[in-house]
Amino acid sequence: MKVFISRIIPDIATKMIEEAGHTITQFTERRDLSFEELVNTCKQHDAFLSVSHNKLNKEFLNQCTHLKVISLFSVGYDHLDVEEATRLKIPVGNTPNVLSNATADTAFLLMLAVSRKAIYLHKTIAKAEWGYYDPIANLGIELYDKTLGIFGLGKIGYELAKRCKGAYNMKLIYYNRGNNPQAENELGAVKVSFDELLQQSDVLSVHCALTDETRGLFDKKIFRKMKPTSIFINTARGGIHNEQDLIEELKAGSIWGAGLDVTNPEPMNPDNALLDMPNVAILPHIGSATFEAREGMARIAALNIIAGLNGERLPFAVNPGIYGA
Ligand code: 8YV
Repeated sequence: MKVFISRIIPDIATKMIEEAGHTITQFTERRDLSFEELVNTCKQHDAFLSVSHNKLNKEFLNQCTHLKVISLFSVGYDHLDVEEATRLKIPVGNTPNVLSNATADTAFLLMLAVSRKAIYLHKTIAKAEWGYYDPIANLGIELYDKTLGIFGLGKIGYELAKRCKGAYNMKLIYYNRGNNPQAENELGAVKVSFDELLQQSDVLSVHCALTDETRGLFDKKIFRKMKPTSIFINTARGGIHNEQDLIEELKAGSIWGAGLDVTNPEPMNPDNALLDMPNVAILPHIGSATFEAREGMARIAALNIIAGLNGERLPFAVNPGIYGA
């Protein structure tokens, strides 16, 4: 059968799919496909391995009901209308677990980079600003015994919690709909209310999905409830914070610093004020950008394609409801 892959991804995926007897078309131009191009190309294929964040909305899904499987090259699926895919009985898969370490490392990296103003100070050297030794300048915040608050404690949040506990003996609090017994039993994490999370966190790291509930949630009202010495980290989705409010509240001193691997929009505009702030670190959505994670994502994405084309249950389905589960 015929599989369309919308970008070049690690070879393992094409090898696995071809070994399973399928043929592949891969879009190799370094640009996003337009909606029409995407629909027209998908119409000529049986399966779609979707890389990046093309909107897989009602309109797309209704024009592509023939697809035997859509395999996302991501763990997040906010770009997909899950309800519609389920209603149309199109199996959709994602790539969980394999990128948890890499994304948690990115959050940890941002936390440290912000707490010591690392990215900002790196840039000052090139501007010939490394001169007079000033004992009261460039001071950062130490993380030992501080409190890490996790908004959305799933697999990535758990990995970050483990790192923060091991490295700095940080106290762990979290806000979730459900409980996370593993984090409570193994790391001593304590579930708190959203307001308590805001009031007690020295570092608040976001690890939830982008949904109608979380869209724009971290706005000025919320930042104002946080400690003036706190650091806000987002490696989940840029849509969860209001970027203009974040800039204003950083300037106003409502919070101390911020580290973002996800922005709104992406790519971030190069004249964004955040890029010049000392207590800010921004990365261009590299959470899962390690050889290990991307290889794992390619392998799982291929497994989802192969299972879907065999008419089998996807190993990692985002809409298991189609199987009556
Ligand atoms: C992906 C991500 O690389 O998996 C996710 O949800 O955010 C990233 O790891 C990105 O979505 C591109 O597909």
